[in-house]
Amino acid sequence: MHDLRVAPSILSADFARLADEVADVAPAVRMVHVDVMDGHYVPNLTLGPPVVRSLRAATELFLDAHLMISDPRTYAPQIVAAGADSVTFHPEVEDDPLGLVELLRDAGSQVGVAIRPHQPLSLVEELLPHIDMLLIMTVQPGFGGQAFQPDVVPKIAEAVEARASLRARFRIEVDGGISVATVGSTAAAGADTFVAGSAVFDHPDRVAAARAVLDAAHAALGAGAQARA
Ligand code: DX5
Ligand code: ZN
Repeated sequence: MHDLRVAPSILSADFARLADEVADVAPAVRMVHVDVMDGHYVPNLTLGPPVVRSLRAATELFLDAHLMISDPRTYAPQIVAAGADSVTFHPEVEDDPLGLVELLRDAGSQVGVAIRPHQPLSLVEELLPHIDMLLIMTVQPGFGGQAFQPDVVPKIAEAVEARASLRARFRIEVDGGISVATVGSTAAAGADTFVAGSAVFDHPDRVAAARAVLDAAHAALGAGAQARA
């Protein structure tokens, strides 16, 4: 239903050279993934609105912000104002997640919600008709370079079914341990947006690395189509 996209995560880039790092991967992608961590929701600290503002000035790529923070009601609007095109938050920290989705949309942003590997899809069921993206974490949030958790894959297929029965249109993004080796199972299950941090930025040729992940996703769909034929 959606075209397949790779979203390189700048968490694995060199933060002292962010504009150059993003420019380096730009020929291969339409979006970059920006991980915002507050040291409370996850045991790691990354960046906030000033860095998003600088990135906005440095690139025309779609900025896909992933907020791993305890207070998205305060900071998500600031991330939008700083220039993010999409903000995704973890809804269990919010008293009124639907209200926050609506507030962010009114501010002109696309909106996503995220679920951790152990969280069921039912946690976000009521939000699904209202969001642009569902982020299904395939590692525990907090750090790049962790191993992909294959037991999450059935939840992707569940999200595809829920989307069809709701006649909703949200993208399904997977995040954590995505690489040439792992992306295929997520694409075959129905994911369309693939966050890849270390699989892109740990390679000297970022364009080739991002294209390899996208090609592996397409190949998995092709193989699935052939198997059904
Ligand atoms: C982890 C972040 C991810 C991270 C992915 O909490 O949400 O976006 O950058 O990194 P890799 O692709 O290396 O697992
Ligand atoms: Zn992320």
